[in-house]
Formats: sequence, C-alpha cells, structure tokens
Amino acid sequence: MKLNVELVLLLLLFLSLSPSEMANVSSEDDLDLERQTREGDTIDCVDINNQPALDHPLLKNHKVQIEPNLRVTSLRKTSLNAKSVRSGLREPCPIGTVPIRRVTKEDLVVSLTDNMVENTKYGGGGCVTVYNLTVAHDQLSAHNIWIESGPREHISMIVAGWMVAPRLYGDTLSRLFTYWTGDGYHNGCYDVLCSGFVQVSREVIPSFPLEPCSTYGGSQYELVINIEQDRNTGNWWLVVLHASIKVGYWPKELFPYLRDGSLHIAWGGIGLTGSDGICPPMGSGHKPDGNFKHAAIFRRLHWARWDGKSLPPSNNMTEWVDRSNVYGLVNHHHVKKYRSGYTISFGGPGGYCSG
Ligand SMILES: *[C@@H]1O[C@H](CO)[C@@H](O)[C@H](O)[C@H]1NC(C)=O
Ligand SMILES: *[C@@H]1O[C@H](CO)[C@@H](O)[C@H](O)[C@H]1NC(C)=O
Ligand SMILES: *[C@@H]1O[C@H](CO)[C@@H](O)[C@H](O)[C@H]1NC(C)=O
Repeated sequence: MKLNVELVLLLLLFLSLSPSEMANVSSEDDLDLERQTREGDTIDCVDINNQPALDHPLLKNHKVQIEPNLRVTSLRKTSLNAKSVRSGLREPCPIGTVPIRRVTKEDLVVSLTDNMVENTKYGGGGCVTVYNLTVAHDQLSAHNIWIESGPREHISMIVAGWMVAPRLYGDTLSRLFTYWTGDGYHNGCYDVLCSGFVQVSREVIPSFPLEPCSTYGGSQYELVINIEQDRNTGNWWLVVLHASIKVGYWPKELFPYLRDGSLHIAWGGIGLTGSDGICPPMGSGHKPDGNFKHAAIFRRLHWARWDGKSLPPSNNMTEWVDRSNVYGLVNHHHVKKYRSGYTISFGGPGGYCSG
C-alpha cells in the first residue's frame, strides 16, 4: 500500500510542476529530489523510468514508451450540444486505502457487447455523459468501456470510464477510473492502486474528479474515452477528454490474451449492491425514455480496425440488462442528430432489485 501512496504523491508532484521544471527534472540522471506539494506533503521525485508501475514482475525489461503511435487519433469534431467534462487537480488525489471488491462481469451489468470474432479490435471508445449520483457508502456505480479477450477464468480485460465509489475514493464525486486484469481478476486493480499502468500524462491521472456534471433535462457533459493498442509496441493506451490527452498505457506484457487486439468490446455500466442488497443508481438515475437529456447516453461507439479505421459496432451484438426492473438499455443504432453516431442510452434508479 505504501507503494501506491508514493505513486499517487509522485504524480501529484508532477502535476504541480510547470513544463520547464519538468524538462529539467526529466533531463537529470539521478532524480533523488525531495519536494513539497501544495498540500505540504514531502515526497520523493523519481524518474519516469523508475516509477513504481514498473515494479511489476512482468515488466522487468520494460522500456517506457513516451509517445504512442496511434493511428486513430481523434473523433470527428461536431456541433455538439454535449460539452466535454474537465478533469484537473482540484484537490489532493484520493488514496484508496480501503480494499473494495473488484467489478466483474458477474456483477450487475447493463451493456452492449460487440462479439464479432472476424473483427480483431485494436481498441475503441465513445463518449458517455457524466452525472452526479447519490451512491451509498458501500455501493459502486461505473460507466465504462470494456476491452476483453480470453477464457473467463483467465480473462484479460481493460476497463475505463467514470464511476462513483465512496469506498474507493472516500467521497461521491464522479471520477475518471480504470481497471485492469490480465488473469481473470486474480491480478490487476483499479487506477494505479497496484503496479502495471504506466503513467505518462502530467495533466490527468486515473481517479481524477470530473466536472461539471450533466443534469436531468439540462446541460449535458460527456467524457470522451478511447483505449487503443499501439500497433508497434502492442501497449494499450488510454486517451481521454480530448484526443491530445494520452494518460498512459498498460504494457502488453500484462495481458496474455490481448497481445494482438481483442475479440470483444463493450459499452455500458456496472453496479455493485451494498450489503443491504440495494442496487445503486446508474447513469442519470433514470431509465431511458427516448429523450437523450433524461438517461445517460453513450454515443459515437466505435472500434479500431487493424488499419486504424474507426468502425461502428457490428451486427453481432449482445444486449445485456441485469435487474431490468431498475435498469434499462436502449440501442438507438446510428443517430444523425448532433452527429452522435452509434448511440445507446442506459441506466436507471436502482433501489430494491432482488431477483
Ligand atoms: C530549468 O532550466 C531552465 C534552462 O536551463 C532554467 O531557466 C530554469 O530556471 C530551470 N528550472 C528549474 C526549476 O530549475
Ligand atoms: C457472434 O457472437 C457469438 C457470441 O459471442 C460468437 O460465439 C460467434 O462466434 C459470433 N459470430 C461471429 C460471426 O463473429
Ligand atoms: C453534485 O451534487 C451535489 C449535491 O446535490 C452538489 O453539492 C454538487 O455541487 C454537485 N456537483 C456537480 C459537479 O455538479
């Protein structure tokens, strides 16, 4: 756990440095610097090539990749009604000190999955609206994409999106989150709570709060999420907000079944019930009713072909809704309005949901 704390603090420091300071830091060989953050914590400044992420046994000989070589770099610009959410270091990075159960495909899931096996997917993404949700202390509500391949017991999976998870973050803010496992949930973790994810951006790290939030019937704010495999190195990059923010990557060594693309990609939400069995709200807290300003929407769903071309989901899709009494999913297919592309709306109020 100490390791994690150090990494978070390290990143915090990076974020409080100006670009010129960073240049100096990264040009030094021996980086045993001690600094004070704005919050007054004394932390050690370490070389990007010695970051704790690299302590992972699979990454012994891993060389940090600074710039991705991604062929799909951006989504089309449009005259959106949805604005982009911001993410920044408004407050100290939260430190997850309470272990919480990992989200798995066995939890409450509302999702659209593209299972077309002839299409090796080198990544994909979309834009999901972000809401302010009231979630109980031991519930969790996530809204994300999944990249996954392999047998269930040893599945390789990367998840990224936004979630509200009081046990992980100590608050009910909507935050950017990531999750990975290379071995059917036996390894891996959320955000940077274990070694594995290599942080590269100095602006954004997984776990950042997102704001502002959308309101029912009002302004809509969305998070742009892309995960893409660099075809030269095989590393899986996380690109958010604007195509220019390359947060970092998961080295290919972590994923036995994601060495060369993925078979499945999915978009949707995950809920963890509290100990009382009550389901958390998901999305806007309202089921889809056809109005895009009522339920959460996930639009511009796409996946990346071998040559970098972005394509919409195929016609071999599975729609899955657990607890349809409290959650819903509507597939709107291609939506012309606001050039939304392939769009789903999903979520619901949660509540009593047994059975
Ligand atoms: C970084 O280097 C530049 C040029 O050498 C210098 O002007 C600047 O003051 C340095 N910054 C720090 C924080 O040392
Ligand atoms: C369609 O999806 C099913 C379910 O995952 C899968 O078994 C099948 O191989 C897929 N078919 C094609 C043509 O990709
Ligand atoms: C979320 O809701 C809470 C309580 O209603 C409010 O205090 C807070 O400002 C909201 N946050 C955002 C980002 O809208």
